[in-house]
Amino acid sequence: MNMNQVIYCSKTRKGNTRRLAAAVAGAIGERPQDISEAGEVRGVDTLFIGASVYAGKINPKLREFLEGIGAGEVKQAVVFGSAAGEKSARDEIAEILAPNGITVSEKYFLCKGSFLLSNKGRPNADDLAKAEAFASEIIG
Ligand SMILES: Cc1cc2nc3c(=O)[nH]c(=O)nc-3n(C[C@H](O)[C@H](O)[C@H](O)COP(=O)(O)O)c2cc1C
Repeated sequence: MNMNQVIYCSKTRKGNTRRLAAAVAGAIGERPQDISEAGEVRGVDTLFIGASVYAGKINPKLREFLEGIGAGEVKQAVVFGSAAGEKSARDEIAEILAPNGITVSEKYFLCKGSFLLSNKGRPNADDLAKAEAFASEIIG
């Protein structure tokens, strides 16, 4: 029995990362957990991490949460998120988790996220469907 978990951190009122997290979690039969409510991460096979970038960086609250994950508690982490541009949070998260011995998959999901007047309505239904397909493929 695989133990998978979906955590996320959304910053804007639109909740773009939260909406992606709902799609990812739904696809693998889990419930998305906001990091402000998530319990400890323990004994997880695949940890999906929903993260977007703000001025090129993940939210400091998410950084803190990730730093608190114990060594060996996660077999693999997989990052998903959205951005106004092209930048995934994957590499920053890989650096944060490396000292804890947690590998972050090279595969990540990224779509456009609405920001000010750009990317209106994104993630849209198509983005959410792609996020679901991505999650299903990772879990296999
Ligand atoms: C303060 C702020 C800074 C941002 N900086 C960037 C950025 O540097 N690069 C980028 O691609 N998107 C940037 N964005 C866009 C967000 O990554 C995008 O809107 C994302 O979908 C927000 O997800 P959320 O609704 O879950 O917070 C920024 C958004 C905000 C609000």
